[in-house]
Amino acid sequence: MIEYRTLRVALLGAGSVGSQVARLLLENREELAARSGADLQLVGIAVRNLDAKRDVELPRELYTTDAETLIVGADIVIELMGGIEPAKTYILQALNAGADVITGNKALLAEHGAEIFGAAEQVGAEVYYEAAVAAAIPIIRPLRDSLAGDNIKRILAIVNGSTNYILDRMDRFGDSMADAQKTAFELGFLEADPTLDVEGYDAAQKATLLASLAFHSSVPASGVHREGISQITPEQIQAAKDAGYVIKLLAIAERITDEDGTEGVSARVYPALVDRNHPLASVHGGNNAVFVEAEAAGPLMFYGAGAGGVQTASAILGDLVSAARRHVAGG
Ligand code: HSE
Repeated sequence: MIEYRTLRVALLGAGSVGSQVARLLLENREELAARSGADLQLVGIAVRNLDAKRDVELPRELYTTDAETLIVGADIVIELMGGIEPAKTYILQALNAGADVITGNKALLAEHGAEIFGAAEQVGAEVYYEAAVAAAIPIIRPLRDSLAGDNIKRILAIVNGSTNYILDRMDRFGDSMADAQKTAFELGFLEADPTLDVEGYDAAQKATLLASLAFHSSVPASGVHREGISQITPEQIQAAKDAGYVIKLLAIAERITDEDGTEGVSARVYPALVDRNHPLASVHGGNNAVFVEAEAAGPLMFYGAGAGGVQTASAILGDLVSAARRHVAGG
């Protein structure tokens, strides 16, 4: 039998994504070892409430409320708590202790990415965040690695599943905004605070991450122009339809040159008219798609599930294999 090096993995958070990550990690331990070269040992799951009801049944002894002790002994820390604090403190503690960090926390990275990536660079650790934008769809690694030799001209993206679902219901089934929102809420698409989705905050956070990666510059969340969909009426949807368009909440990022020749990046989120023949027009329901226009590669579209516990867990486990390979290669 092959002897793999053991890597200690600490998980912070056991919500819909965290529970699925833990389940897949335990169930697929052998396959993950064969692919990464490391035996990934889940050493614990930090939660706020030990008795909370979970989506997945996991060994009870894995749970702890002591995140700090869990972080100290870990090689890799997976943060899936969401929110700014205490997630930020825990991530910085993990990095300062030399652990690599995997997170799906778009709000935290959009607001405090510079500090977190800076801390990682100082200690030679890595921060992986494939799950932070468009969940299961591989887009962070393609932008950072696969397209690193190309020049990206523009990104047009549907990165918020719930608003896409709402607009799609209004467009295809004639729902009112209120009815479409109600269904989206019942299906669990909307964030706990629906304003984050409906007013475009969630999409703007993702736009920050995409624009920063695609254009190799730091695009702060405050620099993203943002408009939501709450003012869209059925009449506007119908008028767009009659003219051959569909209204989609787009996150757009592109390189721009000012009149004085200064180069910069424009990032914006707003309900846009999309030609019905454009590939983004056929992104229905809660799906996401990122349409990339690159100089040499031409147009590329990355499409699929942009939310969901097990789908998002797929991206986290991909990051985990990458982190493990890095540890193994580094000795
Ligand atoms: N509320 C988000 C969405 C969840 O609707 O896309 C995934 O980030």
